[in-house]
Amino acid sequence: MERREETAMHAPVAGAAPMRVEDLRREIVGIETRVPLLDGTERPYVFLDNAASTPALRGVLRAIEEFLPWYSGVHRGTGFKSVLTTGVFDAAHDTVGKFAGADPARNTVVFTKNTTECVNKLSNRFRFRPDDVVITTTMEHHSNDLPWRKNARVIHIGITSDGRPDLAAMKGAIAREKGRVRLVAVSGASNITGLCSPVRDIAAWAHGAGAKIFVDAAQLAPHRPIDMLPDDDPGHIDFLALSAHKMYAPFGTGALVGAKEFFEEGDPDQVGGGVVDIVTLDRAVWNRPPHKEEAGSPNVIGGVALAAAVRVLSSVGMDAIAAHEQELLAYGYAKLKKINRIVLYGPTDHLEEKVGVMAFNIEGMHHSLVAAILSVEGGIGVRDGCFCAHPYVKELLHVGAEEDRVFTAEVLSGNKSHMPGMVRASLGCYNTREDIDALAEMLERVVKGAYRGTYDQDPATGAFHARGYDVDFARYCSLASQPTPGRVHSEAS
Ligand code: ALA
Repeated sequence: MERREETAMHAPVAGAAPMRVEDLRREIVGIETRVPLLDGTERPYVFLDNAASTPALRGVLRAIEEFLPWYSGVHRGTGFKSVLTTGVFDAAHDTVGKFAGADPARNTVVFTKNTTECVNKLSNRFRFRPDDVVITTTMEHHSNDLPWRKNARVIHIGITSDGRPDLAAMKGAIAREKGRVRLVAVSGASNITGLCSPVRDIAAWAHGAGAKIFVDAAQLAPHRPIDMLPDDDPGHIDFLALSAHKMYAPFGTGALVGAKEFFEEGDPDQVGGGVVDIVTLDRAVWNRPPHKEEAGSPNVIGGVALAAAVRVLSSVGMDAIAAHEQELLAYGYAKLKKINRIVLYGPTDHLEEKVGVMAFNIEGMHHSLVAAILSVEGGIGVRDGCFCAHPYVKELLHVGAEEDRVFTAEVLSGNKSHMPGMVRASLGCYNTREDIDALAEMLERVVKGAYRGTYDQDPATGAFHARGYDVDFARYCSLASQPTPGRVHSEAS
């Protein structure tokens, strides 16, 4: 998203000592952690699955450690610690709002447990009428699709041959549905191709039709500056959601930002403690947002962690992080393109339109086999499968109707062996060229058949397991137990 001139309303988030992108790697908890390989050796883990979840920042841990001795319940207690905790928790909301460029006078920041909960909450709170329409795309994560299907009539805009949402079709659909379309819901960035949506244009089309726009910023907020803009700007964002566990603060918090006025109307999504001003036996008067939408005792530590992460990222500067990741992405694509039989998905040019996600396959090899080899022979963490975005993956893979029917029937009968999918390497702000080199080197070996293991597929999960890779997980972490078959990939992911 392009930046606007700095205003008092959207001053940079302050509070952490200035830091450079190069400093971030040593700020990652567990960056030196060694993992066991099939040949009996160990190597430092190469973490290229940041789109799934990121490791924690040391600055986040430090903030939690500093805060924990003062921790108490919020908003209800009169004791010193309770008052202090309430102040810290409320300020965490403000910090996140500022990071998103939200207008504190008009917007509220509701803490949830993740982006999925944010979208469900927003969908439940919209109070859709039977004919109301939500326009979204087939590029979406299921979390920005299924919650809308539950409550409204959803129109899915397809993708063009290069994997981008069909913007002409979207503009046409928004105009055609004027009067019925209440919301346009789009990803800030795709979790598969990394493509960023042109949210300013989409926002202007939505507003022109009297609708609102929601941006699922789970994959955008860790990588790009975001700015919701003032409400009088046609390109402003009405609602935005993000997840702390993708922003180096994996302590169970998400944030939904939107107009106070919207959340003031109607009943809260969930009811219980904290959401009311007064209750009688036949009446409840709701508190103001965000309290109205944060039923029960909230995850204070998660909120503190998210705010701490935002402060660290802001002290580096989101523009600097974006530039670093873009340079790495260009390096990664250049390396992968040189490897025979690698098929890349989505556009690999105009990298300014993408966050650092590379989805690929090796021709003739199952995606889960490639991911298993990368893990047990290379110590490289990636994700494979359909990434909770089945329609988009199937479109990118050009899965035909008959193939779709056959593997769907197989999956429903308990056999995931032929579930289509891809391998995904996704970058974080702390990754380096050496991480990409390690990936490319292993992929070269895989393509040449120069891997050493024998792998068996578990039809129940689709996952491949190397014979003889019998690691005692408890040797590495005393909390660990042996994974039982079927627990690693428990869904058709
Ligand atoms: N949405 C996360 C991913 O893409 C979990 O992996």
